[in-house]
Amino acid sequence: MQVYILLCFLGAVTCQQGRQFPEGFLFGASSSAYQYEGAWNEDGRGPSIWDVAIHNKQSVITDRSTADIATNLYHNYKNDIKLMTEVGLDFFRFSISWSRILPTGFANKINQAGIDYYSNFIDELIKNDITPFATIYHWDLPEKMQEMGGWTNPAIVDFFLDYAKIIFDNFGERVKFWVTINEPEPVCNNGYGTGIHAPFLNLSGIGEYMCAKNVLLAHARTYELYQKKYKYQNGKIGITLMSEWLEPYNSSAAEDRQAAYDMLLFNLGIFADPIFSKTGDFPQIVKKMVAEKSLKQGFPRSRLPTLSEDEVELIRGSADFMGLNIYSSNLVYRNESVRGMYPVPSFKDDAGVGITVARSWPRSNFERIQFVPWGATKILMKVKELYDNPTVYVTENGWPNNGGFDDEDRVHFLASYLNSIMEAVNRGCDVRGYSVWTLMDCFEWINGYTLKFGLYQVDYSSPNLTRTARKSAEFYKNITTTRYLLRDYDYNERDVVVNI
Ligand code: NOJ
Repeated sequence: MQVYILLCFLGAVTCQQGRQFPEGFLFGASSSAYQYEGAWNEDGRGPSIWDVAIHNKQSVITDRSTADIATNLYHNYKNDIKLMTEVGLDFFRFSISWSRILPTGFANKINQAGIDYYSNFIDELIKNDITPFATIYHWDLPEKMQEMGGWTNPAIVDFFLDYAKIIFDNFGERVKFWVTINEPEPVCNNGYGTGIHAPFLNLSGIGEYMCAKNVLLAHARTYELYQKKYKYQNGKIGITLMSEWLEPYNSSAAEDRQAAYDMLLFNLGIFADPIFSKTGDFPQIVKKMVAEKSLKQGFPRSRLPTLSEDEVELIRGSADFMGLNIYSSNLVYRNESVRGMYPVPSFKDDAGVGITVARSWPRSNFERIQFVPWGATKILMKVKELYDNPTVYVTENGWPNNGGFDDEDRVHFLASYLNSIMEAVNRGCDVRGYSVWTLMDCFEWINGYTLKFGLYQVDYSSPNLTRTARKSAEFYKNITTTRYLLRDYDYNERDVVVNI
């Protein structure tokens, strides 16, 4: 409040031109074990599907790099936590590597060195007044689990539960924010559908749906376990979903409006509806479309598995919050040209829509990310409408570029998106926190180290992997200390005028 008054008094901006974040709103930065830790085979860690895939075939990664060392967080975490305090983080979102805790994925052999590492890491965060925000699974499945079919094998649900139990037993007294699974959409669609992420399986039109059901069950059983056995630890437990905002290509065309809605349900709804809607099931439209196509294609039943009544009961309401990773938007259309556009069967063919971007949207160096700040307001408003205004944490938001310290483009992106997120808050969305992707440049999956997302640059050519603050670190520090977004960035007011 004082800061607000002071800013008004100083006349640095007029009060209407800025945005005060609500009391209690939390700011963080996000990371993941595989992208940060390195030490891939140290102190008893077992291999994950990414280790195996990359080591077998380095050409799957654009720059033929590996994450064997990555940012070296494993050895450098004490210094890195100093950077977190430098930017004034309230929380740090990190993930736990399943195969560092259980080298084969099975719970018969716990790797004490892995437990110690996370335990020390969590203690160090707390000592520095940074709240640990932990993800139990961020894409690095133990290789052994994959040898048994990974996320397409229903047995994974019990194995995941065994792992989660060990996590809560060891860290639950100190960690009060849990994400079960990060972005199930790419886990399933990229890992088992199109095969562009580990385990690089192309089981298009079938594998991604089998995966989706098992992910939902693993999540919901973990939530149930927490409620039954660990409630006394007083934490909140949610899931992090990813959704681009999907705008009709031509908003006056009914087909395009329907196409955008359908795609939203295929993308977000497959995971969000069962957990956050009253039905507790896959979206009706998705069920119908996949069933019809499956039958036409000669399958004896829908390629989308069913959820039994008991499963629906288990999954419905199984989250205290929705984590949302917000980056970009797409335009969606449906017309004759879409026919034959995708492999059959496939998730995209089932949705039957064309997806593109507007030429006017500024692009990053990553084809998936365009600068569309108003999309953040729209997706948040849609979530509010569809799922009865759940508590949301924006668990990721960030902008990649080729590097350099003067990252005005990132500052502009972050400021504009924060502004749009605040617009949603002012319209009643229950957003409680925001986490930037990411603290420092790290391993960006198949893009290796070519995409720089960090508030801090990591000099990968220096022996110590030197970290240096970029302009965006300064910007973010300003936000975390003032809790106020100055309107001196030239984001366009038109960007946040949305018609929903
Ligand atoms: C989402 C993923 O959770 C994270 O691992 C990835 O690096 C960022 N998006 C950026 O692509």
